[in-house]
Amino acid sequence: MDHGLTQVFPASATFEAGRLRTVGGVDVDALAAAHGTPLWVLDRQELTGRMRAYREALGPDNAVVFAAKALCVTGVLQIAAAEGLQVDVASGGELRTAQAANFPMERVVFHGNNKSVEELEYAARLGVGTVVADSFSELVRLDDVASRTGVRFRVQLRVTPGVETDTHEHIRTGHDDSKFGFTLSAGLADEAVERAVALPGIDLVGLHSHVGSQILAGDAFESAVAAMVALLDRMQTAHDVALPELNLGGGLGIAYTRDDQPLAIADYTRRLLAAVDAECAAVGIARPKLFIEPGRSIAGPAGVTLYRVGTVKRIPGVNTYLAVDGGMSDNPRPALYGARYEFVPAGNGAAVTGTEPMAIAGKHCETGDVLARDVALPVDIAEGELLAVGATGAYNHAMASNYNRLPRPAMVLVGDGRTDMLVRRETPDDVLSHDVPLP
Ligand SMILES: Cc1ncc(COP(=O)(O)O)c(C=O)c1O
Repeated sequence: MDHGLTQVFPASATFEAGRLRTVGGVDVDALAAAHGTPLWVLDRQELTGRMRAYREALGPDNAVVFAAKALCVTGVLQIAAAEGLQVDVASGGELRTAQAANFPMERVVFHGNNKSVEELEYAARLGVGTVVADSFSELVRLDDVASRTGVRFRVQLRVTPGVETDTHEHIRTGHDDSKFGFTLSAGLADEAVERAVALPGIDLVGLHSHVGSQILAGDAFESAVAAMVALLDRMQTAHDVALPELNLGGGLGIAYTRDDQPLAIADYTRRLLAAVDAECAAVGIARPKLFIEPGRSIAGPAGVTLYRVGTVKRIPGVNTYLAVDGGMSDNPRPALYGARYEFVPAGNGAAVTGTEPMAIAGKHCETGDVLARDVALPVDIAEGELLAVGATGAYNHAMASNYNRLPRPAMVLVGDGRTDMLVRRETPDDVLSHDVPLP
């Protein structure tokens, strides 16, 4: 297999005659037979390898915070906790999952642009380590909850630094016109620092920025560092507020296709650390403790989805559609962002010889439910064969739905020839279970 294609699969994946045969030492036919399809398969070694790469690169004085929004599953958060990571949760539900995973609460960072009073009270009750405050109303809510619960919140302020990125507009967050955070250019960030330090229920410890997701060029991160260090410096000189922590969010892109060339974790972190050192030295402030919040670049490359081919529709001279047994309900990204993926035939079968371009259609009642187009697949591919798609570990399970009342797939963890269940497959009755029939 060509390296471009294999880069979108976990390093443990093995291929034979153009077909994916094993992941984590487990045969994909056996996985599909035992657990059904669609099936989310997560490679343990790829997942933990990426967590360790981040931890080693940042060292013991800084923090690697796994962004649970990318893949919020109890078993995955248990692994993140065991690997010494912190976790970023963005809702009461994600916080509940961290609790179920016995995640040490002092290592939890709580995000969200509209946290409810109930969510803040829940965070106070559990003793969540850090809250990233996103708005003036939230500062007031935090102070109010603090006065009622007796908990003083450790707070980082989310700043929108005015950095444009090269990513899809739906996952861009650092530009001025954003729903997130305190907009730097409008003077809101300075005002937020002044207000936060005056509130007794808040222990202001740092600033946060997250410029976007699936970013492939490093300069956006460096621009954010420059803006954030300048702000830390201004807070110190103009307001006499020295903040010891700087959280730079997540955002590192991954390879979804053979053409994508993301930065390696080691290169990205080296550039980030060098930029923080250089900017702090230039303005003459001490280097703050650095936090980063990678989600996609930890979970994404560890995931593979297995589908079974159902209907094959050939439109002579126009296109061939292979319909699989899932679609936009287990992977909404192509329909949502026009995201591109690589598909390969999987399991035991004839060697791939002649190929022709085909479209991979989902089974939903939606014309836009097409997972990929112009995929070179065997001309004689037949109903019942397995297809595999790489890099589905992040924002697939996390964004899945029950559209058309499809039960959500199971997820398994594979490694060293062993399979562990992470998420049970839903049944049609699970999907129905919250309906209340009228009397
Ligand atoms: C505040 C924050 N941190 C971290 C992340 C994770 O980003 P990524 O999955 O691109 O690393 C996000 C994602 O949108 C985010 O909003």
